[in-house]
Amino acid sequence: MADFAVIGIGRMGGQHARNLVKGKMKGSRLVAVCDIDKKKVDDFCKKHPSVKGFYDHKSLIESGVARAVMIAVPHYFHGEIAKDCLSAGIHTLVEKPLTVTTLEAKSVIEAAKAHPESYFGMMFNQRTNRMYRKAKQLIESGAIGKIQRANYVITDWYRSQAYYDQGGWRASWSGEGGGTLINQCVHQLDLIQWLLGMPEKITSSCKTIGRNISTENDLYAVFGYKDFDCYFCASTHELPGENRFTIVGTKGTIVIKSWKMTYTLLDKTEIEVNAETKHGYGNTGRHTRSYSYGPIRKIIDLIYGQQWRVIEAFGKAIDKKDPSALIARGEEGLRSLTLINGVYLSNWTKKTVDLPFDDEKYAQLLAEKADAERRK
Ligand SMILES: NC(=O)c1ccc[n+]([C@@H]2O[C@H](COP(=O)([O-])OP(=O)(O)OC[C@H]3O[C@@H](n4cnc5c(N)ncnc54)[C@H](O)[C@@H]3O)[C@@H](O)[C@H]2O)c1
Repeated sequence: MADFAVIGIGRMGGQHARNLVKGKMKGSRLVAVCDIDKKKVDDFCKKHPSVKGFYDHKSLIESGVARAVMIAVPHYFHGEIAKDCLSAGIHTLVEKPLTVTTLEAKSVIEAAKAHPESYFGMMFNQRTNRMYRKAKQLIESGAIGKIQRANYVITDWYRSQAYYDQGGWRASWSGEGGGTLINQCVHQLDLIQWLLGMPEKITSSCKTIGRNISTENDLYAVFGYKDFDCYFCASTHELPGENRFTIVGTKGTIVIKSWKMTYTLLDKTEIEVNAETKHGYGNTGRHTRSYSYGPIRKIIDLIYGQQWRVIEAFGKAIDKKDPSALIARGEEGLRSLTLINGVYLSNWTKKTVDLPFDDEKYAQLLAEKADAERRK
């Protein structure tokens, strides 16, 4: 049994804690919660007397009650808390994003390397979506051939001014380290790197449309790969918005929307069609299939969220001493963060950014933005 503590029991961490205390994740149970907001801790522990409460993560670590932690605090605190837990030999699952800068993410990864006894995982719950898993299998098996183009349009993360007016750390350089890109899009950026690999360069443009916030809520980015480009377009101000990921290969096309995926496999590759045809156009046999998110999975996820699946897998990995059971390894969090930092860097410098970029330069530019925001 993996004994979990949840650090940060706000909106997301509160759900993780409630799911754990209900016994939703097989093989894992909640033994403690920790939050700097004492009332949240006291209220939770009053309702669930078997759960111990802590007001800071260091006393939680010192108590030795938890074998594993789920860190669900604002982004700027992820790195320090993760390093402290990993160094204390505690299995550590971090909410997305790993940290705010690649510079700090690398220091967390170093701490994890120094403590291989501590499992280190990332909360990339979209990887549990069976449509993206199917897409990964189609790409890796070579079924769609060589990738030629990818487009990801994600504009259905609608957020009103009222959402931003709740205040706190969101949509700010000083509190969150960015806006829509680092908060919502981190999931899509993880999927892009998970399915397509890492690009070589990034060109981007970020804007703020119709909201009084200091970060972006609208952006596009072109991720340049050796042989193709991936066009990424995201916003949180569009209604109804859309969620469509298209991946085109020489032998097939995958289109994934919110709840449904279709994929078309060609009898001959485009290269073969081009070599054979005597006409100015070409064609070949094709087979289109659909695949859905799954109605039962959808209902379960609407009730419990999708994230419980990642926590359950993390608990099982600990129990079975099998790190390959993790949905996402902690160090993989660096990749989506590299895309996030790279998009901002390209927007700030108005230049195409080659990867890898200068981590220290990025951290310094972000610190300047955060300082300027605080002075306003
Ligand atoms: N995986 C997902 O789909 C998903 C969805 C929403 C949020 N998140 C992530 O979850 C994390 C929390 O987001 P949220 O929406 O729950 O925020 P929130 O503001 O509702 O909750 C954060 C909680 O952390 C507490 N906290 C702050 N600093 C702390 C510290 N140093 N030690 C202990 N507790 C501390 C706060 O008091 C608060 O209760 C973020 O990383 C966010 O990106 C993930």
